[in-house]
Amino acid sequence: MAKETLTVRDDRTGKEYVIPIELGSIRATDLAQIKTGPDDGGLVSYDPAFMNTAACKSKVTFIDGDRGILHYRGYPIEELAEKSTYLETAYLIVKGELPTTSHLAMWRHNITMHTMVHENLKRFMQGFRYDAHPMGMLVGTVGALSTFYPDARDVMDLESRRMQTRRLIGKIPTIAAFAYRHSRGLPYVYPDNDLSYTGNFLSMLFRMTELKYRPDPVLEHALEVLFILHADHEQNCSTTAARVVGSALADPYSVVAAAAAALSGPRHGGANEEVVHMLREIGSMNNIPALIKQVKAGERRLMGFGHRVYKNYDPRAKIIKEVAYQVFEVTGRSPLIDIALELEKIALDDEYFVKRKLYPNVDFYSGIIYDAMGFPVEMFPVLFAIPRTSGWMAQWAEMVLDEEQRIARPRQVYIGRDLRSYPPLDARRDVGAQETEVRGPL
Ligand code: CMC
Repeated sequence: MAKETLTVRDDRTGKEYVIPIELGSIRATDLAQIKTGPDDGGLVSYDPAFMNTAACKSKVTFIDGDRGILHYRGYPIEELAEKSTYLETAYLIVKGELPTTSHLAMWRHNITMHTMVHENLKRFMQGFRYDAHPMGMLVGTVGALSTFYPDARDVMDLESRRMQTRRLIGKIPTIAAFAYRHSRGLPYVYPDNDLSYTGNFLSMLFRMTELKYRPDPVLEHALEVLFILHADHEQNCSTTAARVVGSALADPYSVVAAAAAALSGPRHGGANEEVVHMLREIGSMNNIPALIKQVKAGERRLMGFGHRVYKNYDPRAKIIKEVAYQVFEVTGRSPLIDIALELEKIALDDEYFVKRKLYPNVDFYSGIIYDAMGFPVEMFPVLFAIPRTSGWMAQWAEMVLDEEQRIARPRQVYIGRDLRSYPPLDARRDVGAQETEVRGPL
């Protein structure tokens, strides 16, 4: 059998080092022994944006980007989307195994018990301006939850971790729905615990004067599927943010607020919002070639296309495309879908996209569904944050218990000025506008 080692020769010194390979990886700290002399701090690996760095071992989610495969705890996403519910999938992600009938009933009860929020938290949300972005409201309010639950700081205690997980999964739809109602100037609707997780969410969003809200079963099911597909995606930007903040042993509300803040960016959870803007801007089939030309000239990106990990069709996008047609049966066909389908067809045939392995990702079709369901685009990242909360909590708990993890603290390669002495204020030369510009990014 071939040896599981890597032999490295340092051409500066002629020395050779044998570095162990474990699970297809070498330890970056093993590079620190490679030095030119006693004053050398040792070699570091330079990897901006973690392009080829594994920062943890994880048992939660498996992705094979080249083959377009996604599994949660070993179960294919296609099977879960077809047969499971969001709450069952959340249990699987958080606990590691599918629940038995009694455990599922208990889990459902435990989450449902926590759908209400403290009245002060409601008042806190009412303090936001009438036009506050719902994602900003979500980030701020989830962060504020930590002040309501000081017990959450005991992150090493199993019972505390379990309690905060139930609270977060239970309350996040309530906070999301309140943020939506706030932006519409509508009174907040309290949870209805007789309904399913997604049925209750729809009720808190759309209930008006009726005594009992009855969610449309097709839309309720579509949201279940969308929530399952968004529940986890291994070490993406927001999950990494969760792990980094959590590594300082911050409480889980601060952790989820930090993760949601990362998710709000247009390169991450905000991309489906950008897709809808782009499709609306295109407006008609005739304008597609001009857009493709701009993209190929590097002037803009085709939103909802490309992925750091998937170099094949995103398996989630395939499922979402089917859900879109089910939703249109209820809402009517979205005019955006025809533009999206044509755009996809052209892009998948075009050498620029083929060469770079750019395929539709999860965001390409999800925005169209949310738009057809009547959500304003600002709500899209909020809809992503609700199910991703189970993934963030599972990854956070895994990190907290991982004995190899310490406070996250990457190294840097310093390229700034050498040592210099401090000049008195009146000895400093005025610099012109041009020179000021080259000083720095701020
Ligand atoms: N449109 C046009 N060209 C693209 C696109 C795109 N959407 N994405 C990547 N490229 C090109 C890019 O210009 C580069 O070309 P070249 O080699 O000639 O410079 C090449 O493909 C590699 O791109 P990259 O930026 O190095 O790839 P990345 O892994 O850093 O970026 C990405 C991944 C998702 C940020 C990027 O593909 C992108 O900006 N896509 C559009 C935004 C989007 O849809 N985001 C949602 C991601 S899925 C949801 C989630 O998991 O959060």
